[in-house]
Amino acid sequence: MAGWAIDNPCSTVDLILNPSLNRLEVSPKGESRDPVGKLPGVGPATLGDSSFLTTHQVRFPYICGEMANGIASVEMVTAIAKAGMLGFFGAAGLPLPEIEHAIAALKQNCGDLPWGSNLIHSPQDPELEERSVDLYLRERVTRVSASAFMALRPSIVRYAYTGITAAPDGTITRRNHVFAKISRVEVARQFLSPAPDNMLASLGQKGLLTPEEIDLARRLPVAEDFSVEADSGGHTDNRPLTVLLPAILLLRDELTKKYGWTRPIRIGAAGGIGTPASVSAAFAMGAAYVLTGSINQSAIESALSPAGKKLLTQASATDVMMAPAADMFELGVKVQVLKRATFFAARASKLYELYIRHDSLEQIPGDTLRTLERDVFKQPIAQIWAETERFFRARMPHEMERATREPKHRMALVFRWYLHFSSRWAISGEPSRQVDYQIWCGPAMGVFNQWVAGTFLEKAENRTVAQIALNLMHGAASITRAHQLRTLGVQLLAEHFNYKPRYLEESWA
Ligand SMILES: Cc1cc2nc3c(=O)[nH]c(=O)nc-3n(C[C@H](O)[C@H](O)[C@H](O)COP(=O)(O)O)c2cc1C
Repeated sequence: MAGWAIDNPCSTVDLILNPSLNRLEVSPKGESRDPVGKLPGVGPATLGDSSFLTTHQVRFPYICGEMANGIASVEMVTAIAKAGMLGFFGAAGLPLPEIEHAIAALKQNCGDLPWGSNLIHSPQDPELEERSVDLYLRERVTRVSASAFMALRPSIVRYAYTGITAAPDGTITRRNHVFAKISRVEVARQFLSPAPDNMLASLGQKGLLTPEEIDLARRLPVAEDFSVEADSGGHTDNRPLTVLLPAILLLRDELTKKYGWTRPIRIGAAGGIGTPASVSAAFAMGAAYVLTGSINQSAIESALSPAGKKLLTQASATDVMMAPAADMFELGVKVQVLKRATFFAARASKLYELYIRHDSLEQIPGDTLRTLERDVFKQPIAQIWAETERFFRARMPHEMERATREPKHRMALVFRWYLHFSSRWAISGEPSRQVDYQIWCGPAMGVFNQWVAGTFLEKAENRTVAQIALNLMHGAASITRAHQLRTLGVQLLAEHFNYKPRYLEESWA
C-alpha cells in the first residue's frame, strides 16, 4: 500500500492506524478513512537548501559539474539550464578564445537562465588565471566554480567581490558567485573566511577593487557555495563523502559563529554520486545541493567521443584507478581514470616510475626507450621532443629554458606529451589510439551503470543530462519518502528503496 506513496513522493498522503497490528499504514490512494496524520509531499525542489534555489534561480538543488577541455560542453550546460538546474562549462585546458566563444554561445542559448564556468588555479601559468578572470568579469559571467586552489589567490578574490553592493537597509548583493570546489578542510577555511586584508589592500592599490567593494568584502566570506568533493573522477583526494561532508559542515558552523555570518552558506556534495540512494544520503547528511561529474560524461551532450562513451557505459565501480596527472606530473599528483579496456593508467604510471628512477632520457636503458617509442609514443622520442619544444617555446618559454638547463625536466616534458594527447585522443575518438584513451572517471560511473541496466538509460544514446538528473532527483525524493515512512513504523518492502529509472517530462516538478 505504501508503494504508490513512494512512487509519487510529491503527493501528500494520509496515514491511518491499523488497530489490529497497532501500526501506521498509508491510506489507499483516493481513500481517506479516519487519518491520524498527513505526510506532506517531498519533491526534488525540497530536498536541499531552499536558498540555493532562490539565490541561483533554479528549480532543483542540482549541479552538473565542469569537465575540462569542454567535455562539459555548451550543449550540456544549456540542456541542464533548460531543465531548471545549474551547469558549469568545462573551461579548464581550453585557450581563452575558445572559452570566449563558449560564453557567447551560452548567453545566446540560455538567455536569462543561470549557468556558470570553471576557473581552474594554474600555478604554472598565473597569467592565464588572471586573464580568465578578466574575461569572466568583462563578459559578466556571474557564476564561477573555483577549483584546484590550495590557497586564496588575488584572481578569485577580485572576482568574488567585484560589483558587490549594499542597499540602504544594509542588504549586501553579490554580482558574482564563487562556488568553491574543495576537498580539504584547510582550503575550505580560507574560502569560508573574509579575504585577507593585505590581499584586499593590494587589489585596491592596483585599482582592481573600489574602496566600497573592499569595505563590503570584509562583511562576507569569499564564497557562499561549496562543492565538497569526495572520491571523484579526475583530481581527487579519494576521501569518503561520509567523512568529508560532515567535516566541512562542522567547519562551516564553526566559522559562521566566529565571523557572525548571517547569510546561509551552502555546502554541496560531490564525488561518488551516481544513484538516487547516494543523492538521498547526501541530502540526509545536510548537503545543500548535489553535484555530479563522471556520469554526465557518458551523456549525449558530453564532448567525449562516442568510442569513449561506449567504454564508460561498460564500466563497473571497480574499473577505475589513479594515474599520473598531466598538469602536475613531476609532483606525483594523480587523477582517477577509467582502467577498463585502456592501457593509459599502466603506461602513464610506467612513465612516472621512469621519471623518478632516472635523471635524464639518456640514462634510461636503450631497450626500455625502444619499447616506449614502439608502444607508447609510436614515434622516435627525438620527434616528440621536437614537437614539445615548438609548443613550449611559443606558449611557455620559461619551461623551455628550464628544460635546456635540467635534463630531468626535459624528460618530464616529453612524458607529459603522452599524458596530454591521451585525453585529446579520447575526446576526438582517435581510432588508432583507443587503448591509450585517458578518460577521467570515478566509481560513481560503475554504480550508475548498474542502476540503469535494463532501463532506457542503459543506452548511451538515451542518456541526456536532464533525464539523468531528473531520475536521480526524483529517485532521491522517493527514497527519502520511503525512509520517512519507515521511521514512522510503516512496514516497507526492500523494493521500496529501489527506484527504477523512467522517462520523466522535463516540465515535471
Ligand atoms: C572528465 C572529467 C573532467 C573533469 N574536469 C574538471 C575540471 O576541469 N575542473 C573541476 O573543477 N572539476 C573537474 N572534474 C570534476 C567534476 O566537476 C566533479 O566535481 C566530479 O566529477 C564529481 O565527482 P564524480 O565524478 O564522482 O561524479 C572533472 C570530472 C570528470 C569526470
